[in-house]
Amino acid sequence: MADAASTDTAPHAGAWRAAYERSLADPAGFWGEAAEAIDWYQRWDRVLDDSNAPAYRWFAGAELNTCHNAVDRHVAQGRGAQPAIIHDSPVTGTLASITYAELQERVARFAGALRGLGVGKGDRVIVYMPMVPEAAIAMLACARIGAVHSVVFGGFSARELATRIDDAKPRVVVAGSCGIEPSRIVAYKPLLDDALAQASHQPEHCVILQREQQPADLMPGRDLDWAALTAAAEPADCVPVAATDPLYILYTSGTTGQPKGVVRDNGGHAVAMTWSMRNVYNVAPGEVFWSASDVGWVVGHSYIVYAPLLHGCTTVIYEGKPVGTPDAGAFWRVIEQHKVSVLFTAPTAFRAIKRDDPEAKHLARYDTSSLRALFLAGERCDPNTLEWAGEILGVPVVDHWWQTETGWAIAANCLGLEQLPIKPGSPTKPVPGYDVQVLGDDGSAVAPGTIGRIMIKLPLPPGCLPTLWGNDERFRASYLSAEPGYYLSGDAGYFDDDGYLFVMSRIDDIINVAGHRLSTGGMEAVLAGHPDVAECAVIGVADQLKGELPLGLVVLKAGVERAEVDIAKELVAKVRQEIGPVAAFKTVLVVPRLPKTRSGKILRGTMKHIADGTEYRMPATIDDPAILEEIHDALVAAGYAHAG
Ligand code: COA
Ligand code: AMP
Repeated sequence: MADAASTDTAPHAGAWRAAYERSLADPAGFWGEAAEAIDWYQRWDRVLDDSNAPAYRWFAGAELNTCHNAVDRHVAQGRGAQPAIIHDSPVTGTLASITYAELQERVARFAGALRGLGVGKGDRVIVYMPMVPEAAIAMLACARIGAVHSVVFGGFSARELATRIDDAKPRVVVAGSCGIEPSRIVAYKPLLDDALAQASHQPEHCVILQREQQPADLMPGRDLDWAALTAAAEPADCVPVAATDPLYILYTSGTTGQPKGVVRDNGGHAVAMTWSMRNVYNVAPGEVFWSASDVGWVVGHSYIVYAPLLHGCTTVIYEGKPVGTPDAGAFWRVIEQHKVSVLFTAPTAFRAIKRDDPEAKHLARYDTSSLRALFLAGERCDPNTLEWAGEILGVPVVDHWWQTETGWAIAANCLGLEQLPIKPGSPTKPVPGYDVQVLGDDGSAVAPGTIGRIMIKLPLPPGCLPTLWGNDERFRASYLSAEPGYYLSGDAGYFDDDGYLFVMSRIDDIINVAGHRLSTGGMEAVLAGHPDVAECAVIGVADQLKGELPLGLVVLKAGVERAEVDIAKELVAKVRQEIGPVAAFKTVLVVPRLPKTRSGKILRGTMKHIADGTEYRMPATIDDPAILEEIHDALVAAGYAHAG
């Protein structure tokens, strides 16, 4: 049987409502049918185990292997000669294609190499890799032997990597010798060595993929060369794991400096990924799906690696940027060359293209007729960008809303069910499986048009996080304690009269910089660690390209007489050193005082309004309104606060 509630039917009017209502009325029936698209060694006792609510588990009692479903199964079913992965790397000038049969061979061999190093079921493996096929091979190899991977984005600092190593306690770290940014080669291995020097936990081995652009020095005994190790390894077969066993941990910014280890299970994830390919993205097996993101982010986990492969598509691993590699026609070139059916990226990529080529002149050089739809996520999509993308490409542009925690879309225009009218600024309607509600401070649903906390009534559908790694308590406290029976998304927004959701802002300290999720609290902790800083605040100010950019406001300790410009430079360098270049933290303003409430809470939101030049009301609880005037003047002097 095929996956339920749409699969073999063409998109048609009323399909979204029918699927949505059924998914909420009969989640077990709905997802039980969807699960027929997956190969199981052992079927489930219960589709939805609610015996330990509010901790729910999907497909309890079942056994499967995610790698088998993503790779081996397709070879067995005749897709062996189809490209599974296309590696398109303008930054190295290389192009490679790996068929499903080759992928099976390479994954099995690397799985054997890991096993040879003692890695088994439940062991963790940190993957610190650039956008090369070996990143996906390492992830799938872990899945094959039941190990739990944790991919760390290359733009993070050694300290962030060390934090993740200490939390995940990997037996092995797999890393590339370097990553390639248009402006420079990023040597990953020295960052890894530095991270290991800072971490308390030490892996037994590091497997290093030597890239010719900058090979790394290997530490005898600990460090092993990927190529040599793999050549000597015996291929390993897929092992059955419980549907509820962890497939991976992905760390994401939380409201403190300590990142949250989002856990993904095997069974629910495989079912949700597969269902989403057909029903959200409207893609068929055999088609080319391109997610222009990075394997270090959730978009990369779900839609570069797992979903396209689970669905038998060809996925593109693109090692380049939307602009500058070599120009703003890069995306159109990839679409034409590989006949991409669906593209998924962050709005910031389109803002970058628009900035460099506002009339989309590059587009005329390419045939992009294979493209059927563009999906955008990772940050709120401004209507201008959405409309511009739709005009130049002539395909539906779908803004969809999700987060690392859910692993797939919470709200979207599900093109495989039915294309609903597009409203720029809205990610359309909740996806089947997600009972999305907007609640006011008193816990009751607010009227349409009224902003509130966006929450999801439990249970979350398959694929969403069952917990945080080694920290059930933090999971409950962070996500389940705001309102009994609901998951707190951390976003605020509203439904309009037509039931369209609008996601407007975060209710915590998370900001989105070029689609990358960062915690301003984490940056504040770094600034506060500088000996000259008495107190500080970091706010996300609106930026035309990256959506938001962090801005630091610091008050110096009494008696500090060093030049402010020197201190500001040190603070910028400190954030880059301790969090990483991805934070894009470039500006610090030294101010005499920070505005606070009478109870001493810094008024970050008000400062953000001033910096953005948007309207704000003087907070009733403000301690000293004159301080806001000072901040306003400092921001104007620094080129912010355009509305005066
Ligand atoms: N390894 C090491 N460093 C990295 C890195 C990686 N994998 N990825 C980014 N960086 C560095 C960049 O070199 C840059 O460093 P710099 O301060 O020395 O210039 C910094 O981190 C910020 O990177 P980025 O946010 O990518 O900014 P950018 O100015 O280089 O590019 C865009 C801007 C819009 C072109 C880029 O963000 C982009 O392509 N976004 C696409 C969408 C996307 O990937 N979203 C992710 C979630 S879907
Ligand atoms: P991440 O976990 O990195 O995927 O970031 C998730 C957060 O990014 C969400 O909680 C939102 O704040 C924001 N976000 C992602 N997609 C969208 C979207 N389509 N519209 C509005 N905000 C979004």
